[in-house]
Amino acid sequence: MISLFFLLVAEPCESRSPARSTKAQVPSCTRCHKDFVSVLPQKHPLVAGKDITACLSCHIPSSSTKAGPKPFSTTIHREHVKADVKVHCTACHTWSPGKSLGLPKQMVSFGKVSKDQMDLFRQIFSSWSGDRYLDALHANRNITCTGCHGNTLPDSGDTVENDRCLGCHGSVVDLVAKTTPKDHPARNPHKSHLGEIACAVCHHGHSVSQVYCLGCHTKFIMKIPGGEK
Ligand code: HEC
Ligand code: HEC
Ligand code: HEC
Ligand code: HEC
Ligand code: HEC
Ligand code: HEC
Ligand code: HEC
Repeated sequence: MISLFFLLVAEPCESRSPARSTKAQVPSCTRCHKDFVSVLPQKHPLVAGKDITACLSCHIPSSSTKAGPKPFSTTIHREHVKADVKVHCTACHTWSPGKSLGLPKQMVSFGKVSKDQMDLFRQIFSSWSGDRYLDALHANRNITCTGCHGNTLPDSGDTVENDRCLGCHGSVVDLVAKTTPKDHPARNPHKSHLGEIACAVCHHGHSVSQVYCLGCHTKFIMKIPGGEK
């Protein structure tokens, strides 16, 4: 853990991207992209400019964190936060540690993100942009952090309440109906003698999901999305 922390702070991109306040110069995208046409979706309107403010004039950021897909936010983050790409968050964001995480020339703050929290975010963003865990299965549906975490961006130790998951996934009754095994109807992960338990007991957001039942029922065969492959 300690050495990982040092790796992150020693990363050269960080010192090259000093945009910490709206007064500082906004970093250019041309370091990596010769133009925007080559990276924008087909039939996208032409975009003038060379930094993130070029996008924000039409894609007006909102601090609303209601659940739902956010295709622009997903696209702008996904490729850049992959472990092998390393565009630092401040290539686009303004960030005053412990005070605000915002965007240049915009009156928006996503939270009072501290330095430790930012290090955790960077690890989690990389998992979200991957292909294994529950976070990535949601990134595929254009769901970003706020889709699951809502208003306050999470810090270490935080979780997601059942109601937030069910807000998108419908009632437990529907869920039970969808996941009743044909061969052994009583072995339903969503309806058992355990009663109502937290979704995150089995569905882990950013690590391998595990079917809790199997801790006791070693002979049951149950698979879970985002679980061991
Ligand atoms: C350090 C290099 C780097 C910087 C700086 C950078 N990008 Fe990228 N970007 C990439 C790479 C790598 C990809 C993935 C490969 C590709 O599509 O070119 C990418 C992909 C994209 C995509 C396509 C995403 C998708 O899923 O189709 C968009 C849009 C984009 N970048 C916009 C921007 C904008 C806007 C900026 C400036 C705020 C920027 N990039 C700055 C490296 C960078
Ligand atoms: C002149 C206004 C304008 C500007 C500037 C602009 N966009 Fe867009 N963008 C649109 C419109 C209109 C759409 C289609 C409607 C929508 O999905 O919001 C769109 C859609 C998108 C989508 C697809 C969203 C989806 O639904 O799948 C992405 C990704 C995107 N824009 C990225 C960017 C990026 C990156 C920039 C900055 C380099 C940018 N846009 C600048 C107007 C703009
Ligand atoms: C290439 C530009 C770019 C990079 C790099 C980038 N962001 Fe963003 N980020 C944006 C834009 C633009 C928005 C506003 C999206 C919207 O309102 O739809 C945003 C929104 C957010 C949000 C708001 C919530 C959400 O779910 O949409 C968070 C949190 C966030 N970024 C964190 C980060 C962190 C942490 C990093 C570094 C790991 C990072 N961003 C890297 C451009 C970027
Ligand atoms: C599909 C829903 C989902 C999405 C999307 C999601 N999370 Fe989570 N997150 C969870 C769950 C569930 C937990 C509880 C811990 C666990 O089971 O993994 C969690 C825990 C966390 C924690 C506490 C982790 C710890 O180590 O203590 C942080 C921080 C966090 N998430 C940040 C993020 C960020 C940043 C994003 C966006 C890149 C994100 N989450 C997207 C579901 C989600
Ligand atoms: C903002 C809406 C939203 C939220 C919040 C949300 N999900 Fe999802 N989830 C989706 C969508 C959309 C899909 C893909 C379509 C589907 O399977 O319904 C999905 C898919 C899934 C899948 C199946 C993945 C696969 O590829 O088979 C699981 C499991 C899941 N979600 C669990 C959860 C859990 C647990 C939570 C809470 C921690 C949660 N979701 C929160 C929208 C959401
Ligand atoms: C005891 C472990 C466990 C708990 C707790 C749990 N799940 Fe699941 N979940 C599973 C397993 C196992 C599957 C795979 C079932 C299958 O493929 O039939 C699954 C599948 C899902 C799916 C995908 C269903 C589909 O369309 O195939 C969703 C969505 C989901 N769970 C949401 C939730 C939500 C929301 C909660 C909390 C209210 C929750 N789960 C609690 C174990 C659990
Ligand atoms: C803490 C241990 C424990 C956990 C966790 C647990 N069970 Fe059980 N379960 C038992 C015990 C003890 C019995 C009664 C003895 C028996 O028949 O094996 C039982 C009985 C059952 C039975 C009836 C007997 C059988 O083998 O068919 C089913 C079905 C069942 N559990 C399903 C589940 C499901 C589904 C989960 C997860 C949602 C779960 N259990 C989690 C301990 C556990």
